[in-house]
Amino acid sequence: MTKPTNITWHETSISKENRREKNGHGSCALWFTGLSGSGKSTIANAVSNELFRQGISEYVLDGDNIRHGLNKDLGFSDYDRTENIRRIGEVAKLFVDSGKVVTTAFISPFRSDRDQVRALFEEEEFIEVFVQCPIEECERRDPKQLYAKARRGEIKDFTGIDSPYEAPEQPEITLHSDQVTIEEAVEQVLTYLRGKNII
Ligand code: PPS
Repeated sequence: MTKPTNITWHETSISKENRREKNGHGSCALWFTGLSGSGKSTIANAVSNELFRQGISEYVLDGDNIRHGLNKDLGFSDYDRTENIRRIGEVAKLFVDSGKVVTTAFISPFRSDRDQVRALFEEEEFIEVFVQCPIEECERRDPKQLYAKARRGEIKDFTGIDSPYEAPEQPEITLHSDQVTIEEAVEQVLTYLRGKNII
């Protein structure tokens, strides 16, 4: 890829503070990470639904969906996953700049990729949410029958089977999705946001 030249960064005149005042709440990225089948998408969507219900400006970026459009040129090699997460990180940053609470649901298996995304944000704007669930339970659930296919060798580089998942070391929030209900997980996230005065 060639590096662009002759481009200049333009500051915009409406600040995040202006947006906070208008919206009546702050903005942040809730970065859900976890194995396939751990419940990332389900919980991220449930959090977003509850925020919407409470009148908070939100948006969900979901792995399967983004791979139908923006990232449809990417597969599941280490390189492609890194590029996937880099792009989503940039998109999430735009949403946060626009004043929203954005929930993202990507496996994002590599710690260094998640740390690169974190570095795009101000400290309290990036909230890593580890959806922790034993792989045995994810495989038992297997909602899309992908673990079964991976075990049969029909899918290569499947996370947790023949591609690594590096668990977060110090996530802001850990949700034990095999032990709590979706409602409890949502409440845990909302309590965190209230505690940080974001909502
Ligand atoms: S990543 O690793 O963050 O780039 O992956 P992500 O963009 O979140 O996409 C994960 C979803 O793609 C489907 N899928 C796979 N997942 C993992 N490994 C392999 N090889 C694979 N092939 C397809 C799967 O439906 C994932 O969705 P979730 O919701 O995680 O189950």
